[in-house]
Formats: sequence, C-alpha cells, structure tokens
Amino acid sequence: MTDMELLTLAEQARARAYAPYSGYSVGAAVLCRDGRVYPGCNIENAAYPACLCAERAALAGAVSDGNREVVKIAVTGSGAGICTPCGVCRQVIFELSPDCLVICGRRHNPANPSEPVRQNNQNQDGPAGLTPEIYPIRELLPSAFAGNMLENTGE
Ligand code: THU
Repeated sequence: MTDMELLTLAEQARARAYAPYSGYSVGAAVLCRDGRVYPGCNIENAAYPACLCAERAALAGAVSDGNREVVKIAVTGSGAGICTPCGVCRQVIFELSPDCLVICGRRHNPANPSEPVRQNNQNQDGPAGLTPEIYPIRELLPSAFAGNMLENTGE
C-alpha cells in the first residue's frame, strides 16, 4: 500500500467525522504489519474534553481487533495546509509503535501556491490536492516518555 493510498483511506474516514463544535474534520488510517488498515475519525462531545481525535479512534480500532503491530498512520484534516497529530496522539502512537511513520496530508492552498512542502514526500497529488508528507514519530516526539521509565522508581 502506498502512502497516497493510505492517505486516501484516511480522507474517506474524514467524511465520517462528528465535529459539530469545531467544524474541523479529521480522518486517520492505521496500517499494520499484516496489511490490515483501520480507519478513524474525530468524535466530538458537548463536554469538550471528551472529544476523541481521529488518530486515537483509529488506533483503538486496531488494538481492539488484536492488532498492535502498527507500521504507519495517515492523517488528514479539513483545513488548508497540513494536519499533524496533537501531543496526546503523538504519545499514544509512540507507545504502540516507536518506529511508526506518520503520513500527514498537506492540502494545497490555492491562495498560497508557493507554500513550502517537505522534501521527503512522494510528490504525488492525491484527492483534492492532498500530498503525503512523512514524519517519523520519533521526530514528532523527541525524548519521549516511555514505559521503561516506570521500571525503576528509585524508592
Ligand atoms: N483533532 C484530531 O482529530 N486530530 C488531530 O491530530 C488534531 C485535532 C480533532 C480534535 C477536535 O475534534 C478537532 O480536531 C479540533 O481540535
């Protein structure tokens, strides 16, 4: 599966977002080692802190299906420009897959045709002018807090 195909599945999941409060829809698609893909969308709530991001919705689907071997996650948001995972989602992605590659969709802004595009993308134009940009989770969350830090409390 190409990054563009994974991003296209994320874009399809975005159509199912429930985002009546922010109006910002997000889609995600998790690719596991065995090739299976799990979609997710953001699910908002009138009690704002209860909002669920698309990335964690997709990861919940994978883990609930018994599939924790996450290789990549694609993310796409409704705005112009790029949608990268929030801090909480970065932590959750890192927990399951420290070597995960995050494929972020950049939606070209016709009003700003000269906006910079990350050089490691595949230079493919997908649906609605979406381009995949690749970010290792280790780069998005440097010096991450991890489970092994809980091992020695020193007490
Ligand atoms: N959101 C996501 O689903 N993923 C992100 O990485 C960024 C933010 C959602 C949460 C909320 O429903 C809306 O976008 C606005 O923050």
